[in-house]
Amino acid sequence: MAEIVITESAAAAAQLGADAVQALVAEKPDAVLGLATGSTPLPLYRALQRRVAAGLDLSRVRAFALDEYVGLERGHPQSYASVLLREAVEPLGLDGGAVRVPDGSLEGIETAGARYEAAIEAAGGIDLQVLGIGTDGHIGFNEPGSSFASLTRVKTLTEQTRHDNARFFDSAGEVPMHCVTQGLGTILRARHLLLLAFGESKAAALANAVEGALSASVPASAIQLHPRVTVLVDEAAASGLARADYYRYAWANKPRWQGL
Ligand code: GLP
Repeated sequence: MAEIVITESAAAAAQLGADAVQALVAEKPDAVLGLATGSTPLPLYRALQRRVAAGLDLSRVRAFALDEYVGLERGHPQSYASVLLREAVEPLGLDGGAVRVPDGSLEGIETAGARYEAAIEAAGGIDLQVLGIGTDGHIGFNEPGSSFASLTRVKTLTEQTRHDNARFFDSAGEVPMHCVTQGLGTILRARHLLLLAFGESKAAALANAVEGALSASVPASAIQLHPRVTVLVDEAAASGLARADYYRYAWANKPRWQGL
């Protein structure tokens, strides 16, 4: 089962997430991180940035983005390559050459998924995958209906996701229709999953993902199949959880030696 930690704020959750990254990097300085975009991981990246300022060295870390839009021109400010450069690579002092994003350019798009899978494999797999969750229960850009066995491939975004992400673009029509995303099978291969969810708008999707039935209709429910999942949420995102009291009780009584 996933370990669900209900925190008082996104900032508190971000500190726990940063603890997990820091512990991993202490053990493996060239650890492979899976990086998510969207607004959810930003508090985690900010918390890590403060630790880097205080001496944490992430310069040998390698990273793979979860997903990318298809067809945005190179250097578009909302391409996930640009977003990660701005929000993670530069502030965290990562080696840009060791951070890979799926290739969303139209030329060669048919092989973008296979090339990405090969690169992840060549890096020895992902040690810690950071995940957000979409209001429709997607992780990465695996929209409802995605196979639990899926690998990195081109997907069509739902209207809901395009609508949710329109805030990052000048108009809704500018949000690309297609993406390249790590599959649910790709995500399940990572050695540790760190799912973050903040705010009321994520409460239903989160409850379905961690307490509902395994279903391709709720792609994030795939995490129930993974042996090592940490779910860090604030009170609002936890408001739909039926077993919230148990998760609080388990956290309060967690054996010290366990770590995250
Ligand atoms: C986006 C991304 C996901 C992200 C999710 C939630 O579309 N592709 O990786 O986790 O939707 O976004 P946000 O964190 O902004 O709510």
